[in-house]
Amino acid sequence: MTGGAGFIGSTLADRLAADGVEVVVLDNFSTGRRAFVAGLMEQHDVTVIEGDVLDQLALRSAIEGCDVVFHLAANADVRHGTERPRRDLEQNTIATSNVLEAMREMGTNRIVFSSTGSIYGEPEVFPTPEDCPFPAQTSLYGASKLAGEGLIQAYCHGFGFTGVIFRFVSVLGERYTHGHVVDFYRQLKQDPTRLRVLGDGKQEKSYLYVQDCISGMLAGLGANIEREGASEVYNLGTDETIVVDESVGLITGHMGISPTVEHTGGTRGWPGDSPLIHLDCSKLRSTGWTPELTIREAIEQTLDWFDRNPEQLEDHEAA
Ligand SMILES: NC(=O)c1ccc[n+]([C@@H]2O[C@H](COP(=O)([O-])OP(=O)(O)OC[C@H]3O[C@@H](n4cnc5c(N)ncnc54)[C@H](O)[C@@H]3O)[C@@H](O)[C@H]2O)c1
Repeated sequence: MTGGAGFIGSTLADRLAADGVEVVVLDNFSTGRRAFVAGLMEQHDVTVIEGDVLDQLALRSAIEGCDVVFHLAANADVRHGTERPRRDLEQNTIATSNVLEAMREMGTNRIVFSSTGSIYGEPEVFPTPEDCPFPAQTSLYGASKLAGEGLIQAYCHGFGFTGVIFRFVSVLGERYTHGHVVDFYRQLKQDPTRLRVLGDGKQEKSYLYVQDCISGMLAGLGANIEREGASEVYNLGTDETIVVDESVGLITGHMGISPTVEHTGGTRGWPGDSPLIHLDCSKLRSTGWTPELTIREAIEQTLDWFDRNPEQLEDHEAA
């Protein structure tokens, strides 16, 4: 698993290890945290390698002997793409190409990929199905992930790989380290009297609880694991949405405060911020998978984790 020390990757690694799967994690700890893999490292069927997916040797040695590669390592932040335009290309597209080449060299041909709903840009159909036309990319992050999807599909076609691609909505839950819920919580811990919200606060999006995300990935993999030469794309989210200002209300209610909320204005908080993300997840649901938590429950779960782990917020600030 690349990116196995990150928010989603470490949670997935825990789940696989608990299911008796032998797990090898490759992570450069750029945004991943040692605390997230500390428990894993004590298990004898788990190997955690500190290394970079841009380093072909490290990749080859991590992949040797593996049946499936979960490729989660990435720059996972859509927001700062225009400030560092090469980062998404290198960390997301070239990194995915490297993973595929190392797999080919090592004879491993099943890949599970964490793509994103951001690849739809600003579509016209809601909820948005996998085969919806999406006229233009609106973020370097989305563009770099879509290129990664294309490479995986080409390796499936050209080299008989099995590819299972998931387009996640935003994920929440324990170990959540980046996104609006942690941004707001941290701001409000520093100053409970005011909150700055990027955009007009009316952006409407779907979120998914991390354990539901992992169950979804495993369901999608299970449905395709024997399909050599095929690639499948699944949206992975909930059937609901929430407006940013409503999640502000949940967060301030949880914290028991009533700050003045300042909106920076505009329908988008940053270049590439989609005003509406609502994916049609019926394709993955047809495998029998269904999310267990609502968005509101997932936000509460995330806030409870912040309350219990204040040191994780400090770490993140320092990073
Ligand atoms: N969190 C979300 O809401 C969300 C939504 C859509 C897609 N995704 C995708 O899911 C995956 C996991 O996201 P996350 O939220 O857990 O992010 P994260 O930042 O917590 O995890 C990414 C992990 O990859 C590692 N990494 C980054 N670059 C690396 C490199 N060059 N070599 C080795 N390791 C490297 C980081 O150290 C980190 O542990 C990413 O691919 C992300 O794009 C996440």
